[in-house]
Amino acid sequence: MNKILMVCLGNICRSPLAEGILRHKLVKAGILTVSVDSAGTADYHVGQAPDERSIANALRHQIDISKHRGRQFKLGDFSAYDHIYAMDASNLDHIISMANTDEDRSKVSLILTELYADKQTSVPDPYFGGEEGFEQVFQLLDKACDAVLTKITNSKN
Ligand code: 4NP
Repeated sequence: MNKILMVCLGNICRSPLAEGILRHKLVKAGILTVSVDSAGTADYHVGQAPDERSIANALRHQIDISKHRGRQFKLGDFSAYDHIYAMDASNLDHIISMANTDEDRSKVSLILTELYADKQTSVPDPYFGGEEGFEQVFQLLDKACDAVLTKITNSKN
C-alpha cells in the first residue's frame, strides 16, 4: 500500500483533511515510501483551495493543507493508486460504479472501516454545518489515519 487516495464529494473539506493528517503521520513516523493524495467525486471545486474552515481546523492541529487544489476522481486513479479510501457511502458507491474490474473494486473501502471493522460508517459531511463539524471530522480522521498508519507499519515489517 504505497500510494493512497482519499476521496470525498467536493475535495475541499474531508478528503484534503484526511490527506493532510495521514501525510503528517507518515512524515512523523519517518515513512517516506508511502504517498497520499485526495480527490472528489464531483467537479464543483476543481482547482480550488480547501474550504477555509478545513484549512483553519488543520492549522489548529499544526497541519497545513492550504496548498492543496481540488481535483475530480478519474478512471485512471484505479491504476495509479494501491488503495482508495472513500469518506462516505455515497462516495463509495460512486467510485465503485466507475470501476471496471474486480481488482479496481478491491482497492476501494470506507476509511472508517479501518476503525470500526464490521460497520459501514461514513465521515459526516461538514460543508453545510458549523466549525464543530470540522473538528468532529478531524477527530474521526485522526483515529482512522492512526489505524491506517499501523496497517502500513505492520505491512513493512
Ligand atoms: P467534501 O464537502 O465532500 O468533504 O469536500 C463538500 C464540499 C462541497 C459540497 C458538498 C460537500 N458542495 O455541495 O459544494
